[in-house]
Amino acid sequence: MTARILDGRAIAAGLRARLAERVAALPFRPGLRVVRVGEDPASGVYVRNKDKAAREAGFDSSTIHLPADTTEAALLATIAVLNADPAVDGILVQLPLPPQIRVEAAIAAVDPAKDVDGFHPLNAGRLAAGQPGLVPCTPRGVMHILAEAGVALAGARAVVLGRSQIVGRPMAQLLLAADCTVTIAHSRTRDLPAECRRAEILVAAVGRPAMVRGDWIAPGAVVVDVGINRGADGRLVGDVAFAEALPVAGAITPVPGGVGPMTIACLLENTLDAAIARRGAA
Ligand code: GUN
Repeated sequence: MTARILDGRAIAAGLRARLAERVAALPFRPGLRVVRVGEDPASGVYVRNKDKAAREAGFDSSTIHLPADTTEAALLATIAVLNADPAVDGILVQLPLPPQIRVEAAIAAVDPAKDVDGFHPLNAGRLAAGQPGLVPCTPRGVMHILAEAGVALAGARAVVLGRSQIVGRPMAQLLLAADCTVTIAHSRTRDLPAECRRAEILVAAVGRPAMVRGDWIAPGAVVVDVGINRGADGRLVGDVAFAEALPVAGAITPVPGGVGPMTIACLLENTLDAAIARRGAA
């Protein structure tokens, strides 16, 4: 058996097209502001891609690029201006931040109603409490992929590998809300391969290239690879040893072209949701 490839690029393109249609029908343009601090080169690429996708879908998007020596107070002042700007529906502070700025302070400064990253503790708490709120983009994108692939979630054994605030924890909450039986496994888990082998749905989000081997995967399992790692040869590799997983899994997301494109599409979806919630348009 060879796993079905779950094409995140195609799913993301479809979602972006649907969002563009909804934006075109609005009496206003949803506003997105991405704040980048310093010169991290990968962040530069991500921010440009987010801005381009947002503009193409009809959003009013722009980037605010602050110098690497920006103080925490100056960043918080910039965020306060965006919080108060009625034309701004979504604010994203690109991570990582320079060391003089506390990430938690920056995240907590964003108005939760404009927190399109879903990182604010209020939105994380809402998700954990099963209440509506803004949800982190990558886990939201994974849920879209599972839905498009027709994966039955209710009652399924799901294992999330990784417990980060950005992916692992919210991913587990979303799967739980969809009635999966959820295990969160992590670096201190006693027998990782055995935990993974129990999964009917395995989401790998640890940031370690090809850590999940073929014999960690149950035959027929749905494998979602969130990892984007740079291999020794410079190529992108996921957290899953793809060639080993392919003959075992029932379905699998590739890297690149799996979860990655969904993250940006879901940023746009979150921005549209935030705009409609704030402005009361349907
Ligand atoms: N840096 C890498 N991924 C992300 C993300 O999803 N959101 C933000 N704000 N920064 C990131």
